[in-house]
Amino acid sequence: MNKKRVMTWLLGTLIVAGVSGPLWAQPGPQGKGPQGKAAQGKGSQGKAAQEKGTSGKGGEIGQNAAPKSDMELIRFLLDHRKEIKRSVKNLPNGVVTVTESTNPQVVAVLQTHVASMKKRVEEARPIHARDPLFAEIFRNTTKIEMQVEKTAKGVKVLETSDDAYTVKLIQMHAAVVSLFVQNGQSEAKKNHPVPKKN
Ligand code: HEM
Repeated sequence: MNKKRVMTWLLGTLIVAGVSGPLWAQPGPQGKGPQGKAAQGKGSQGKAAQEKGTSGKGGEIGQNAAPKSDMELIRFLLDHRKEIKRSVKNLPNGVVTVTESTNPQVVAVLQTHVASMKKRVEEARPIHARDPLFAEIFRNTTKIEMQVEKTAKGVKVLETSDDAYTVKLIQMHAAVVSLFVQNGQSEAKKNHPVPKKN
């Protein structure tokens, strides 16, 4: 190659590399990798796609679907609320809840949701903070103890606190989860009040 050809070839290579970006800059599992920002709202990795995912009508979770976001799993649970049975027992220091289904897919989503929410509580990573009750729960995570046990058909959760106000928060949240099961999306759109301090 003569000098001119080499320059043209070099220039072409640089342009292609610049457009496609470095190979290691792939979006993460939920489009949140190094390129996540640019991808959001544009291509299939955008925010809308992230939230909708590959769920079909009626919130079915596809066989080969990518890992689901917390909001997708929550939407699935709300859509399948009629297949969910839940009991809540208030204790002096919290609640014990059993939430189950005979649909194995719902069981799996329930177990994933609760494991993910437990992690959020442990790491104080808020979700649904538009609702005052949820915002308040995430302000008090250091006082919450959560023990999760998988059952054959779902989850059994023991959630407790040594702090009287946090006990009220835990009990109100458990009651609201039961309302989510009873009323679905319309309940999730509502704001729920925080308990009185004493
Ligand atoms: C049918 C719908 C839903 C079901 C069946 C469900 C189920 C559960 C269960 C079993 C727990 C463990 C605590 C307990 O049993 O009280 C839990 C915790 C939690 N859920 Fe859900 N959930 C639903 C909807 C939602 C929605 C709409 C949100 C918010 C967008 C949400 C956010 C949370 C959070 C933040 C926690 C951890 C906080 C805590 O337990 O104090 N869930 N959920």
